[in-house]
Amino acid sequence: MEKLQAALDKARESRTGTAPRAKTPKVRAGKPGQSERDALWAALKPLDLDAPNLEMHRLVTREAGLAATPFDILRTKVFLQMRQNGWKRLAITSPMPNSGKSTTACNLALGLGRQKDLRSIILDLDLRSPSVHELFGTKPERSIGDVLSGEVDFADQALRIGDNVAVSMARDPDKDPTRTLLSEGTAEVIESIEATYKPDIMIFDLPSVLVNDDTRAFLKNVDCALIVVRANATRYNQFDTCEREIAEHTNVLGVVLNAVVDSARSKSE
Ligand SMILES: Nc1ncnc2c1ncn2[C@@H]1O[C@H](COP(=O)(O)OP(=O)(O)O)[C@@H](O)[C@H]1O
Ligand SMILES: [Mg+2]
Repeated sequence: MEKLQAALDKARESRTGTAPRAKTPKVRAGKPGQSERDALWAALKPLDLDAPNLEMHRLVTREAGLAATPFDILRTKVFLQMRQNGWKRLAITSPMPNSGKSTTACNLALGLGRQKDLRSIILDLDLRSPSVHELFGTKPERSIGDVLSGEVDFADQALRIGDNVAVSMARDPDKDPTRTLLSEGTAEVIESIEATYKPDIMIFDLPSVLVNDDTRAFLKNVDCALIVVRANATRYNQFDTCEREIAEHTNVLGVVLNAVVDSARSKSE
């Protein structure tokens, strides 16, 4: 544990102290007159989403509507609070699995995508149990782990949803991802992606806090975290422990109480 803390301190120090090891992605396309950033975004391979698959996975924010409204409110609150603080990197985590982290992260990303003046990047870092590829209905050819290790360029791995959302997904579960999440190389790759693609917001779909050290290892790389708890499943002491742990490493932006059953409505049905 002491070793982990020392590594975390070192990594945090170097995040604030040194310049990232910039790796310039190849620009494969670009119309004249476009800025370099526009050309880089346009060059990402497009991902066409399948409406029934989105619906099956409760992704409801592609278009405005009743179902999208709670996520739209969350999106706006999160974005304004982050902008006020000058924060760009948002972690989504929870005390235990199956709380709705990935559902929330993907809905936020798709909702942000409707804001045409904003660019967002979502990264699936729940490396032991990745699911963003299922929610978006596509398994990438290479995994986000290959991007973080520097083996593959983000430009060649990430996919673009519409014009302004990029997603980097895991392919298969990784049995021992803590090293990747803790590594200084990973921090540098993320710095480099941010510096190159200049997103307004980066969303990190992280693992749950109470099951292993993965999230603790990574939180040094984010500005703030949203905690997703599941009604009638997450216990108060789990939430309390999780919140304290997160607050040791980053700013707690807020808590999403997911899957609340509207008792008045369910009684009348
Ligand atoms: N509000 C909700 N109501 C009902 N089911 C939900 C809700 N949010 C998520 N789920 C479902 O719960 C399961 C776990 O959600 P997921 O987002 O994958 O959780 P996590 O990423 O925290 O493990 C999925 O089958 C998802 O469709
Ligand atoms: Mg998940």
